[in-house]
Amino acid sequence: MNVIGLGLESSCDETAASVVKNGSEILSNIIFSQVSLHREYSGVVPEIASRAHLEVINGLIDTALAKAGVSFNDLNYIAATNRPGLVGSLLVGLQTAKAISFALDIPLIAVNHLEAHLYAAFLEGRQELRFPYIGLLASGGNTAVYEVKGIGDMECIGKTIDDAVGEAFDKVAKYLGLEYPGGPVIEKLALDAVKKEMLFPKILTAGGDTRFSYSGIKTAVVNYINANPSADKAEIVYAFQERALELLVRRVFAFARKRGIKRIVAAGGVAANGRLRALLSAAAAGEEIIAPPPALCADNGAMISGLAFHYYMRKEFDDLSVDVRSRVLERR
Ligand code: KG4
Repeated sequence: MNVIGLGLESSCDETAASVVKNGSEILSNIIFSQVSLHREYSGVVPEIASRAHLEVINGLIDTALAKAGVSFNDLNYIAATNRPGLVGSLLVGLQTAKAISFALDIPLIAVNHLEAHLYAAFLEGRQELRFPYIGLLASGGNTAVYEVKGIGDMECIGKTIDDAVGEAFDKVAKYLGLEYPGGPVIEKLALDAVKKEMLFPKILTAGGDTRFSYSGIKTAVVNYINANPSADKAEIVYAFQERALELLVRRVFAFARKRGIKRIVAAGGVAANGRLRALLSAAAAGEEIIAPPPALCADNGAMISGLAFHYYMRKEFDDLSVDVRSRVLERR
């Protein structure tokens, strides 16, 4: 029997709806990016984001169902991100999912956005879903490493004490007058660097440290630009990117080796970065490196619907009292 699920994602600045079959096969994956609405602010404005979600979500759902060739009556479950994220944005997706669950009398599954990002690596049968693995989550809102032991069972073993890595890419881009979001622009510009000098020191070098930090390098970049106003932008972003990514790679392998785990999954918007993927592969000594295709690294509904399939099979449903949460406090 086939299980068909609709997944909604609205935790930040992407509204997304996706129909997934049996937790893996993507029948449709519709994403409305709000980037153009937030560009002039160089970051996401929560109130603008939630209003924009509200305007487009119903249309996106209709499109996702039509593209998948299914109707509401074919759905076995409805899933939505309920944590973590911007509260006003999360509410739009979750309340829509509740209404669909109530109207169709189908199970509601509230999904942890972070777990879903990592799950994206297993969509479309690209990889066999096996545990445990070390999960690196690197995006605009999160930088953390998890030991993922099973569905709904992930332990946070390291995280940022200040900025997320994607946020640092965005802020450095802003100081340099580059476009938002900064990650893809910096990755491209860094390729033009010729001298490739390490202009900034390594981040948090003390042995045994499990933390991430990106506010120091951000300040170092700003100070460097102020002191060297005519410095070449490509050289600056090259050095910044090397240092920012090097910390991710160093931490991930330290955790994996300490815990004797040979599988590493890198996910979240920053995992779309080709240089990060190359550095992870180069550092591997027997570890298997898994990452979703770049298009599934950013926020999407397929990862929500796909992960929810496993909760559906375990009959772990939520009722209409489930609420949104800006942060994830417990393990699941
Ligand atoms: O996962 P995501 O779409 O949204 C959340 O933050 O939840 O990640 C967006 C972040 C932005 O900060 C963006 O600059 C960064 O991911 N990003 C990248 C790249 N593509 C997106 N950072 C570095 N290199 C990239 N190629």
